[in-house]
Amino acid sequence: MKFSISPAPLAEQKKEALVVFCQGGEILLPSGSAGLRKQLAALLKNSAFKGEPGQVAQLPLNGKQVLLTGIGAAKYFHNGLLEQAAAAAIKAGRAAGLKTFAMASTLTLEGVSETDYQLLAGRGAAWGTYEYATFKTSAKKSAAATLTFAGPVEDRGVIKDAEAQGAALVGTADLANMPGNKATPTAIADWAKTMAKENGLTCKVMGETELAKKGCGGILSVASGGAEEARMIILKHKGTDPKAKPIVLVGKTLTFDSGGISLKPGKGMEWMRYDKSGGMAVLTAMQMIARMNVEVPVVGILCAAENMPGSKATRPGDIVTAYKGKTVEVCNTDAEGRLALMDALGLAVDMKPRAIVDIATLTGAVIMALGGSAAAVLGNQPQIVNELIDAGLTAGERLWQLPIFKDYSDNMKSDFADLSNISKTPGAGTATAAAFLQEFVPEDIPWAHIDIAGTAWLESPKPHQAPGATLFGARTLAQWVASQD
Ligand code: BES
Ligand code: MN
Ligand code: ZN
Repeated sequence: MKFSISPAPLAEQKKEALVVFCQGGEILLPSGSAGLRKQLAALLKNSAFKGEPGQVAQLPLNGKQVLLTGIGAAKYFHNGLLEQAAAAAIKAGRAAGLKTFAMASTLTLEGVSETDYQLLAGRGAAWGTYEYATFKTSAKKSAAATLTFAGPVEDRGVIKDAEAQGAALVGTADLANMPGNKATPTAIADWAKTMAKENGLTCKVMGETELAKKGCGGILSVASGGAEEARMIILKHKGTDPKAKPIVLVGKTLTFDSGGISLKPGKGMEWMRYDKSGGMAVLTAMQMIARMNVEVPVVGILCAAENMPGSKATRPGDIVTAYKGKTVEVCNTDAEGRLALMDALGLAVDMKPRAIVDIATLTGAVIMALGGSAAAVLGNQPQIVNELIDAGLTAGERLWQLPIFKDYSDNMKSDFADLSNISKTPGAGTATAAAFLQEFVPEDIPWAHIDIAGTAWLESPKPHQAPGATLFGARTLAQWVASQD
């Protein structure tokens, strides 16, 4: 979606549709749009529109369409609702055949700065144009839409950033939604190479021979049951000081997770094509980081593999060796994400990073804990966890901390290897998985883990997006990395 800036107030914009945010019954417009606010208030009397999250009303006014979109009551507000309200308005407007949109360049909302608003609203608007239609043979491409920010803009760079971030999200969504037979580890590696070239990143791909030579026994054990070869995909953003220590972002990229020999139940297994969502968030964040010219060097690592049963598959009880030598007894082949991630974390540690963040659809348990409302964040130092939570609040993605108690590590002791890939004790699945990962990162490197199993995709339609990948985490990672400059 192309963005532009126009100094005239919203009501004077010659566009097909004007997007107006509403906090419950309150119409959020800057003082320069008092006239428009009055007209809308009159139209809204006796209307069913209550400004609830997800509610959109289309009102004809002076030959244009006004799209009122709700962010709900102040009491329940979080930044994600603003981004979603923008997306819902554009999605509804596009469904009504509208192509040119304008919204106010500023709005007064407690806790939301001018630049936060522009980033959230712009990014949301772009996301609202996205449609996953790759495999709909009768799909017609909707015409391109434009968005104008009406009124004064203090920092025009933010509008550029919002446009770039929107493009990164929309540009990655087709890959993120692609099924396992299309988005294979090799296909994702090829996609990453092209993307890197277009964005001034470097991309190195390790195949199975190189992974075997390096001793990456974790990811190889995950991929061994299926026909698809594993790939370790390493993207680099140089930053301005090549000697500075990099930030490393690691994404679980399981192109399909059947569970392996510890096979999952059939019901709902089709959603396991989204087990690559951590990697998709990293791919998206890397594009955002590149296009925003972030100063710190940043590395993105995607451990891509498919978890299948088969005659060469890892068996429960098999012992595998992680990169750098730790041995792991694989008691459940469905706890595969941590096996792929342990090798990727080892490679990340080799880069002497200033910090590591991994992101993964790692445990069903996080859905029990938080549902689709927040991701879990856990780490080895409070500062990095707090920074990520803050970045998430700004970026409209909620993260909630869970603890890594030593008990969880103790419960993964194995009688036959250095550790087991599952706990002997039931419960605390998300924290146990994090405790496992923590074993592969030295204490003095700030590290955090984000579990997005509950937030990475939608299974039913919402006003702001159709079922499919949300790319949850990309916005937070980009926000956090940029805050490290
Ligand atoms: N990819 C799954 C986790 C998952 C479950 C993501 C549901 C999204 C929705 C992961 O590989 C897995 O299977 N985890 C197991 C771990 C268990 C065997 C210790 C789980 O959560 O059941
Ligand atoms: Mn699994
Ligand atoms: Zn998995």
